Amino acid sequence: MYLRILLGVDSLVDLVKMLKKYNQEHLLGFYDELDEDGKTNLISQIKGIDFELISELYEMAQKGSDEKTDPSDIQPMAYTDKDEISSVNKDRYKAIGRKICENGEYAVVTMAGGQGTRLGHTGPKGTFDIGIGKSLFEIQCERIRNMGFNVPWYIMTSKENDADTKAFFEANNYFGYDKENIIFFTQRMLPMMLENGRIVLEEKNRIKEGADGHGGIFRAMIESGVLDDMKRRNIKWIFTCGIDNVLTRPDDLLFLGYVSEKGSMIGCKSLVKRGPCEKVGVFCKVKGRPSVIEYTEISEEMANLRDEKGNLVYGDAHILLNLFNISVFEKMGGRGLPYHVAFKKTDYINEKGEKVLADKPNAYKYEAFIFDAFSYFDDIAILRVKREEEFAPVKNKEGEDSPKTALELYLNADK
Ligand code: UTP
Repeated sequence: MYLRILLGVDSLVDLVKMLKKYNQEHLLGFYDELDEDGKTNLISQIKGIDFELISELYEMAQKGSDEKTDPSDIQPMAYTDKDEISSVNKDRYKAIGRKICENGEYAVVTMAGGQGTRLGHTGPKGTFDIGIGKSLFEIQCERIRNMGFNVPWYIMTSKENDADTKAFFEANNYFGYDKENIIFFTQRMLPMMLENGRIVLEEKNRIKEGADGHGGIFRAMIESGVLDDMKRRNIKWIFTCGIDNVLTRPDDLLFLGYVSEKGSMIGCKSLVKRGPCEKVGVFCKVKGRPSVIEYTEISEEMANLRDEKGNLVYGDAHILLNLFNISVFEKMGGRGLPYHVAFKKTDYINEKGEKVLADKPNAYKYEAFIFDAFSYFDDIAILRVKREEEFAPVKNKEGEDSPKTALELYLNADK
């Protein structure tokens, strides 16, 4: 009855018809049991979904992502090894970076909209403490604060963790940083889907949605007004990073100076893969365009290819530490990047209305990747850095890339 009042009879009929067409009628399976708020929220979620897009993405997920890029389309990509830069040039780059900051032309964007499913921490990942009495947010804030330039710090969240993230900053007095210079914005969400193609109901009144990947940053910066805000502030260079690498250096003036001096619109840090089998994306050129190719998309032969010195030819990993000229965001505009499929763990309500607890990945999540933007540009400047100095990610609860490994690396590195 309520549904009829909310939508009008025609819309109700249309909605049910539309859900049937896409085989998603289970979304209203418990509608009659819901209170008024629950009904309103569920309907508004359904109305926000692009079902055509979701069907296409499901088809793509079914096909799998094992397709390899044609080896003849792939070439190695040039890079600069930080260790091989002379100390005179290092000083010069740092001076250039410092000038950019003094002019107020530098900003940081931390992408913290992910779900952190592997870590399994309750609450936004940035609130996690690896065992040093500081959250991941605080570690990053300290480095930006210690630069002494009042750098604007933008934090990308998702609908799922935005309120908790803001509350955490408020409760921690913004870690002593100027509140005016911390700006939150949210990215788009997409519904998750079970293997049978059904959109996940996480509660009877709620669809499970996930942030649309770190590649969602381009759209989100425009839709939220962040790009306009940056232009108002005369920002020229934007460092983007995730929240889960405790050795992220948003305060790296050398990197800033190096990229701007090279005249590239995009700069990326890379590090040498642990070996041919490490599951990371590597820099290369595909059909002459700068790219990052996923480990699933490169042939075994190419992953193992070595040069005359015995180094991997495709061995420079992308580690989500990138610097963009503001013109990149202008050029990308509201353009959406292609979606990739991830397989994640999520609890759900089954057709009988029972909660099913997932103990292994069981649902598709669709994500755009920030590095898919690289191919829109002629060249990018890659600075190879050392793993032990710049990369200590917190991904898994235990084992590799866990709080334990990150803590060890953090304690041994320069703060
Ligand atoms: P990951 O891809 O490692 O994902 O994100 P995650 O959400 O942290 O963890 P899992 O895969 O669910 O276990 C790398 C960085 O990109 C951000 C994350 O918050 C993290 O800082 N990210 C990821 C976003 O900001 N939005 C997204 O949609 C996805």
